[in-house]
Amino acid sequence: MDTTEVPVTMPRIGDPAPAFTARTTQGDISFPGDYAGEWVVLFSHPADFTPVCTSEFMTFASMEGDFRRYNTRLVGLSVDGLYSHIAWLRTIQEKMVYRDLKNVEVTFPLIDDVSMDVARRYGMIMPGEATTQAVRAVFVIDPAGVVRAIVYYPLSLGRNVAELLRMVVALQTADEFGVATPADWLPGEPVIVPPPGSCGTAKERMDGEVEGVECVDWFFCTKDLPETLIEERLTRS
Ligand code: BEZ
Repeated sequence: MDTTEVPVTMPRIGDPAPAFTARTTQGDISFPGDYAGEWVVLFSHPADFTPVCTSEFMTFASMEGDFRRYNTRLVGLSVDGLYSHIAWLRTIQEKMVYRDLKNVEVTFPLIDDVSMDVARRYGMIMPGEATTQAVRAVFVIDPAGVVRAIVYYPLSLGRNVAELLRMVVALQTADEFGVATPADWLPGEPVIVPPPGSCGTAKERMDGEVEGVECVDWFFCTKDLPETLIEERLTRS
């Protein structure tokens, strides 16, 4: 199929991640199959050799180990070509300084998407913002290849990579422990217990009869979840 015919689609949370094969700075990949059993943060950026993107890539690369501890791979994408990507990543390593980061090697794959095939499948092109560049889209994809979270930033705004890591940890915590996480939650802080399924359970909780569960009101109950337990269950060294 002519790539210009690839329809623009936008996967939603809960959808299977659209499949594609691509050339990257780490060799060819088949997505999401090559990442089965792992979490993935798939993110697009507008262009190589631009300052905001450079600061983002240096930050992503510096935190790659944190993502890997949580069984999570990073995969970047822009509509630039492979040789541009290689030249840019070499420049980043050889010359760029951002905050306390320098000599940063980007070892995660960066997709060559000159055809915009992948960007169109993932709704990364927003014509109101730019027709020839991808916006800063982020898709968190789980080990079964399902889209679990989506974040979009405009061209001018660099992402908060620590927040993306926090999202991954929160999603994994919710899955592993059957809980939800409140606003600004960080590992080690109380988590939200799912709402009661009956009036009886609501009463038990409000009467303080459920050990370890504290309720502000019947629908807002929390419990402690030690960071050590989260790390024990979710991380690998
Ligand atoms: C940047 O990464 O610096 C950038 C890219 C596209 C538009 C504006 C800024």
